[in-house]
Amino acid sequence: MDIVPLDFAAEPGRLAEYHALAADWAVPGPRVPAHLFRLLAERGWRPVPAETWLALDDGRVVGGVTFHLPDQDNTHLALIRFLQVAPGARRRGVGSALLAHAAGRARAHQREMLLVEVAEAGPGEAFARAKGMREVATQARRVLDLTRFAAPERKVPGYRLEFLRGRTPEPSIAEMITFMETMNDAPLDDLAVNEEFWSPGDLKAMEDAWELADQDVYTVIARADDGTAAAFTRLFAHRAESDGWARQTDTAVVRAHRGRGLARWVKEANTAWLKRSRPDLTRVITWNAVANGPMVAINERLGYELLDVWHEWELRV
Ligand SMILES: CC(C)(COP(=O)(O)OP(=O)(O)OC[C@H]1O[C@@H](n2cnc3c(N)ncnc32)[C@H](O)[C@@H]1OP(=O)(O)O)[C@@H](O)C(=O)NCCC(=O)NCCS
Repeated sequence: MDIVPLDFAAEPGRLAEYHALAADWAVPGPRVPAHLFRLLAERGWRPVPAETWLALDDGRVVGGVTFHLPDQDNTHLALIRFLQVAPGARRRGVGSALLAHAAGRARAHQREMLLVEVAEAGPGEAFARAKGMREVATQARRVLDLTRFAAPERKVPGYRLEFLRGRTPEPSIAEMITFMETMNDAPLDDLAVNEEFWSPGDLKAMEDAWELADQDVYTVIARADDGTAAAFTRLFAHRAESDGWARQTDTAVVRAHRGRGLARWVKEANTAWLKRSRPDLTRVITWNAVANGPMVAINERLGYELLDVWHEWELRV
């Protein structure tokens, strides 16, 4: 078996084999179409240096590992995005060889640890334990049946809603950065991860990735009557290759505006807007730290039901 780097531009055949192998990484749940898989593997939403290495057996791709190497915040980490071995090639040391290779590359990049998200109770968990990793955080995925969702008529006094489809308009960039940095308040359990800070350039690069990955992006902002941006939430769906799934991602309420029901209000309004705009969608998936009691409670009020549990594992390299 050889472990070789994947050149995304020059090796479309190998990329397709790797996608076929790794794209069911988060089943059950939405599949990752080829163009999104490439984006996630090659650079991520917020572009970072990344490497993908493939395990080849007789020229066939039997496994692969992709890790990101954050270069602004969290430069002590290498984040494993995919680590997958073909079902027919398991329990023969391929996963171990890929992990050892990733650890060596992480060390070469002066990283202290690898982090990887693994579904509970599957082969990945047994593997992580066998490899001496430490479990550092727990997240749950939940799914909303959009066909049964109906938003209650509600208003939070002193605030109004704004609906934004696609990119952030120029005048709102500074407040969007405030929202993204407010996400740093989400609980991290025992994860050795530092806060992330955003520049206008970072924001633009992330939104460029929405275009590259053909994403239809719905954002609702709650603004106080004096104009202050107070809360935001965001939903994503594929534009062309729709599979019926949408994804609920960031929601944040700026500290001074917490405790007034804004998070639930923006989420309900955005979900209702998505449902009206995209009748092809039937389900929304979201993920939260299990420790994030308030957000989990809001999601359950909206009608989200538990899908599965994931743990984040850390390996000191
Ligand atoms: C997890 C995964 C990458 C392991 O790949 P692999 O090539 O089978 O792993 P290895 O052969 O190197 O296994 C090393 C050790 O991990 C443990 N292990 C791996 N799979 C296991 C399983 N299904 N049940 C119990 N222990 C397991 C064993 O201790 C094994 O050593 P052994 O075979 O000598 O007993 C593979 O099962 C996979 O692709 N799973 C789905 C994706 C995933 O969970 N990725 C996240 C990985 S952190």
